Amino acid sequence: MMSMFDFNSYLVARNREINERIDVLLKPDSSRIVSAMRYSLTAGGKRARPVLCIGAAESVGAEAKDVLTVACAIEMIHTYSLIHDDLPAMDDDDLRRGKPTCHVAYDEASAILAGDALLTLAFQVLSSAASEYPPSRLLEVIYLLSHAAGYKGMVEGQMRDIASEGISLDIDAIEQIHALKTGALIQASVLSGAILGGGNAEQIEQLKIYGKNIGLAFQVTDDILNVEGDPALLGKAVGSDENRKKSTYPSIMGMEASKQFARKLIDNALESLSIFDNKAEPLRAVARYIIYRKR
Ligand code: IPE
Ligand code: IPE
Ligand code: MG
Ligand code: MG
Repeated sequence: MMSMFDFNSYLVARNREINERIDVLLKPDSSRIVSAMRYSLTAGGKRARPVLCIGAAESVGAEAKDVLTVACAIEMIHTYSLIHDDLPAMDDDDLRRGKPTCHVAYDEASAILAGDALLTLAFQVLSSAASEYPPSRLLEVIYLLSHAAGYKGMVEGQMRDIASEGISLDIDAIEQIHALKTGALIQASVLSGAILGGGNAEQIEQLKIYGKNIGLAFQVTDDILNVEGDPALLGKAVGSDENRKKSTYPSIMGMEASKQFARKLIDNALESLSIFDNKAEPLRAVARYIIYRKR
């Protein structure tokens, strides 16, 4: 039977909920720091990580509202990572989410501080959600997210990514960088939703595999889009990986093999969802979307 699941309507609805909650968690005010934080946070990201957190919660039988605060905290962590990733000392990019990057629109110091403030706000938001969630589950999620974002996760991936500019890496080394810089937070987004949603051990085990596969597929696709994407749709520059001599999947294994590899990862992810019923349709749809996305 054809699935009746309407992914576009789902995304519109979830995005609205996420954006409304973000406005509550970080209210506009006249200070320069809040202005810079909100500039990047509300610039028009896809909200893939919060959607994954919500989708994972739904797959184990919970509802979006049950994990919305945590989903928004994850988007704050992600947005901080983008602001810092774009800084002159890192990828030195001028365009992000279709707008001038934070350090271009404000200044470098403000962008560094806006990133710092978004990262710390995320953990303030998480810890102040103690009345919304069972404390043991919330603590597990805080641990998971701090680990994924930190020196054994995203930060280590970013270190290796920057250190590898101009050096030709083998595919295992690139896979590790991608898993760390992008995969770790994506996998943690999925697991956070599943844990807070009350998933059982088997479900969480399967979602771990799902998260690992889509996390890697997401960055492989980011590499592909950096070569053949449309900057107007992406809202960021293309060709920058080649300009900075980054080792990427297309640069090492070629474009066709990279696309095939991404498809294989998505097949693995879908396979890992086979124990779930139709409540996992959002997660299935996100997996398929990741490799066909244009932005
Ligand atoms: C871009 O992430 C950076 C990566 C980790 C690949 P997204 O593609 O999710 O960017 P936004 O949030 O939609 O701007
Ligand atoms: C971004 O990786 C990873 C993080 C922000 C942690 P990239 O540098 O490859 O992503 P884009 O292409 O700038 O979005
Ligand atoms: Mg980078
Ligand atoms: Mg970058």
